[in-house]
Amino acid sequence: MHTQVGIVGAGPAGLLLGQMLHLKGIDSVIIENRRRDYVIERVRAGVLEQGTVDLMTELGLGARLRREGLAHQGLFLSFAGARHRINLAELTGGKVITVYGQNELVKDLLDGRAASGRPLYFEVEHVAIHGFESQRSKITFQNNGNEHQIECDFIAGCDGFHGVCRPSIPEEAIQTYEREYPFAWLGILAEAAPSSEELVYTCHKRGFALFSMRSPKITRLYFQVPQEEDIANWSDDAIWDEMLTRMTTLDGWKPNRGPIIQKGITPLRSFVAEPMRFGRLFLAGDAAHIVPPTGAKGLNLAANDVMVLARGLTEYYTRGTMRLLDAYSAVCLRRVWKAQRFSWWMTQTLHRFPGDTEFDYRRQLADLDYITGSRAAMTSLAENYVGLPLDAPLT
Ligand code: APR
Ligand code: PHB
Repeated sequence: MHTQVGIVGAGPAGLLLGQMLHLKGIDSVIIENRRRDYVIERVRAGVLEQGTVDLMTELGLGARLRREGLAHQGLFLSFAGARHRINLAELTGGKVITVYGQNELVKDLLDGRAASGRPLYFEVEHVAIHGFESQRSKITFQNNGNEHQIECDFIAGCDGFHGVCRPSIPEEAIQTYEREYPFAWLGILAEAAPSSEELVYTCHKRGFALFSMRSPKITRLYFQVPQEEDIANWSDDAIWDEMLTRMTTLDGWKPNRGPIIQKGITPLRSFVAEPMRFGRLFLAGDAAHIVPPTGAKGLNLAANDVMVLARGLTEYYTRGTMRLLDAYSAVCLRRVWKAQRFSWWMTQTLHRFPGDTEFDYRRQLADLDYITGSRAAMTSLAENYVGLPLDAPLT
């Protein structure tokens, strides 16, 4: 096979890139090692910045998102038994966030890919990338027992944190920066009507908890657990007891209870690989960086990367210049590091660390009291949460 851009990974990054290129008349082949159902059903994040919503609209795939997505004007920080609202829209000149499951977004993107008529292979095996240090890039893989080879001008490594593209770059050509956190999130989906229209981020003495939702009938909840926690240690009743202990406020607000339909544990990590390009290989999304989910930035960063990449590839194919592609890594990383900073800040502001003392807890409460009482501090949180503007214009 020959194509212009070979895309490894059919997560949000790979699928968004494929669709942007398609609309510019640029050909791509996407390969994905999981089954289609797995990709669609995988429960992930759910907060979209306006830029991500606008991108789906520009791609002609925003109809269901506009219909079913839940626009939020604000969020709550909860501590010492009380919720404090941060009015995101008012503090940011009208910007809002939209709650829409990442798997719903992926469903819409897969429909778009099918309608484009361009190829997407699921359940590929033994994926390897070659020749990207020169101009003869090639992706090899197996599918249904047959060997395949894609010759392409560029490779987009959109294969997530555990993919093959980043490890294919020579070690001396890439620098990684990493931080692990001594806790993880236990998350559930419950069949229960959300009891708040907006997200509630809680700092409780027993640890962080987060109230979110997926639809008017489905509540999404998380709480902080130790890093090595096993989900088998948590019965549904024990999960509810802990959720309610951490989230119930003195005015009696608490999440509605309902059957748990999905549960899992996610580790928290901050990670950046620099540069995000090696020769003709471009890394995008989780393949290049991971943020802890507290700032709700992972999916939006992936969308931002591929917007910058699609712009560079479009310029290459229309004007024959590598100028924007040469700037790809630096342009993305500036925003990535700001999102890293914000995600780290939200995480350490709201979580309890092992070994924290009573002093640390009091300091943390004072921090939250300051944030929710100062317009300057709230504005800083709000402008980061709704999404910082792009550093460079996209055209
Ligand atoms: N070959 C082909 N596909 C692969 C390979 C491989 N060797 N390794 C991994 N993949 C696939 C994964 O199965 C997954 O579908 O690449 C895809 C990567 O998708 P994501 O992990 O979703 O990463 P990305 O598209 O960058 O999305 C950004 O935002 O909300 C956050 O972390 C969350 O997934 C989210 C991310
Ligand atoms: C979610 O709804 O899954 C969600 C919301 C906000 C976050 C993380 C996850 O910060």
